[in-house]
Amino acid sequence: VTELPIAPNQTRPDDVLVLGAGLAGLTVGWELAAAGCRVRILDREAPGQATSRVAAGMLAPVTEAEPDDPQQLALGRAALARWPGYAAELEAASGIVVPLRRRPTLAVARDRDEAEALERFAGIRERLGLPVERLLPSAARTLEPALAPTLRGALAVPDEQAVDPRVVVRALAVAAGDAGARIATGPGSAVEELLHDGTRVTGARTADGLELRSEAVVIAAGSWSGRVPGLPGRDRLPVRPVKGQLLVLRDPQGPGMVERVLRFGAGYLVPRDDGRYVLGATTEERGFDHATTAWAVHDLLRDGAELVPGLLELELRETLAGLRPATPDGHPAIGPSPGLAGLWWATGHYRNGVLLAPLTGTLLADRMLGRPTDEALQAIVDPARPALTPTPEDARA
Ligand code: GLY
Repeated sequence: VTELPIAPNQTRPDDVLVLGAGLAGLTVGWELAAAGCRVRILDREAPGQATSRVAAGMLAPVTEAEPDDPQQLALGRAALARWPGYAAELEAASGIVVPLRRRPTLAVARDRDEAEALERFAGIRERLGLPVERLLPSAARTLEPALAPTLRGALAVPDEQAVDPRVVVRALAVAAGDAGARIATGPGSAVEELLHDGTRVTGARTADGLELRSEAVVIAAGSWSGRVPGLPGRDRLPVRPVKGQLLVLRDPQGPGMVERVLRFGAGYLVPRDDGRYVLGATTEERGFDHATTAWAVHDLLRDGAELVPGLLELELRETLAGLRPATPDGHPAIGPSPGLAGLWWATGHYRNGVLLAPLTGTLLADRMLGRPTDEALQAIVDPARPALTPTPEDARA
């Protein structure tokens, strides 16, 4: 942990505009407001409505990590380590209980191909020094009796957790507000133009005609981050939407049918404490389309029910689509823009926005306020890294 110098063009920002009231914007807003900054958070929708409410909430750095991406793993594991303390701080600050589901993830195989993939997954993680435990199908079914008898194999991945992102959004909005952040949402609070003088940001103009002056602007607008009106071409961070469709099912008998997060193929089942289950997810490159489709409902239920036949008895409560904000190298952008002074990013979290939320607030506030920080993690998320240089196409978008 070392002290990062504050670059000469980075004043301590007393007035900060945060564009986006999703998990990233709220966690940043809370952290900065708690540190004494004057913070205003803007969003065209109510907090968390665009993407955060759609997230499954897995805190899963090991099962989500690409095997060839040690940086993502390091970031995810650091983020997971923050979560228990963060949930406790958030509960204390908001008065809202933020339960963490702390049980090992079960990665399961439904057929021989998936069993081979599971063995590869286990081998790679073991070589990285990550604990995994191979389970016989019978042992997995003892843990989770709702699993189908046709199960071919399973791995328990310890330490992973899950949280309900909608609860986290509610708690963060209260905590940020109580710390002094002002949260303005609705169509009038949509940003019509980022204001700057060519070298540094000066604020933003909103749809209701207000010109809000600020020393710093943090863009935490998920998939829309590179498209804030008024952003100069060189500042158009290449963030693209990757659509994920998922279902929310509910057991009228209450919780307990499945207790652990289950991973299978490209899918997952995440139990909530109130008898709901999130069954996801598709991965689709379809731009800003967020329609829900019959085929996705079909495929998710077909695959999920092969694993847990009892899913077909549950109520189908919601069909959802969210847009994961993806960067070219898959890591988020958290920190100062290499272009306009006073412009900061907290975006590009792709599949790990919930996991990375606490760390995002801390890493960004460390840089903005010149606090001691973790330089290795800062390098992973640095918005100035070459992978995030806008292409001419991004600059025109
Ligand atoms: N983190 C799960 C997903 O993005 O689908």
